[in-house]
Amino acid sequence: MTSPQSESTINTREALRPVPKHVAMIMDGNGRWATSRGLPRLSGHEAGTENIRRITTAAGELGVRYLTLWAFSTENWRRPRDEVDGILQILSHAIDFETEALHERGAQLRHIGSLDGLSPELQASIRGAIDLTRNNDAIVLTLAFNYGGRAELMQAIKQIVDDGIPSDQITEDLISHYLYTEDIPDPDLVIRTSGEFRTSNFLIWQAAYAEWHFTPVLWPDFGPDHLRQAIEDYQHRERRFGGIGHRLHNTDSE
Ligand code: IPE
Ligand code: IPE
Ligand code: MG
Repeated sequence: MTSPQSESTINTREALRPVPKHVAMIMDGNGRWATSRGLPRLSGHEAGTENIRRITTAAGELGVRYLTLWAFSTENWRRPRDEVDGILQILSHAIDFETEALHERGAQLRHIGSLDGLSPELQASIRGAIDLTRNNDAIVLTLAFNYGGRAELMQAIKQIVDDGIPSDQITEDLISHYLYTEDIPDPDLVIRTSGEFRTSNFLIWQAAYAEWHFTPVLWPDFGPDHLRQAIEDYQHRERRFGGIGHRLHNTDSE
């Protein structure tokens, strides 16, 4: 029997939550995708990077306003030099070749993470893409690149100390203001592909109350239908934020 919540019912039933305003994704499984096909791991990173366009388009069509994609972590520098260099090259190429099309579709590009350690050319490409798309508002696409949650918190704490903020003025809002995600709402839904059940240091502050969706599908195979399923799954969740809650009374992602 088919489920009563078929594709077409997304966001139309009164009892369901709205489409999540902010979806964040841990795009994992590129290496295994390639290895299982007898290909070098970098082919998986190429296929994974190509998938970004497909998922950004689908997310926009489904009504997602903020999409955050994790492409490279601060811990990924631990990989063999060839793989790191290859990933940086593939992403740099993608930024250069995809920005114009994203701009035409009204996407606003942002970056979270540290630009330190990236080549001057890559830093310039990222800054150029951000500048070009600054006034777009169809969807905010944030690339988490050279991003790690602990590194982010550490730089925020250093900045707070450097700014001489006294301890009695430190609030959760103030800390959020010092994070890379300062003007991006917290994610409502975090999706991790490839069957791993861990955060791996992703948005550890911001995702404190996100709903999580884990799927065994490897990132290059994760398509629009999988995204739709994840959103439908989210729409059946009841978010309580520590209270006793009621699904119909939540307004956090309206
Ligand atoms: C995710 O795929 C991309 C990056 C971490 C850069 P992986 O490269 O981690 O793929 P698996 O987990 O080894 O399959
Ligand atoms: C998380 O995946 C980072 C990205 C997807 C960019 P990893 O493959 O690096 O995570 P671990 O090492 O399995 O925890
Ligand atoms: Mg991995």
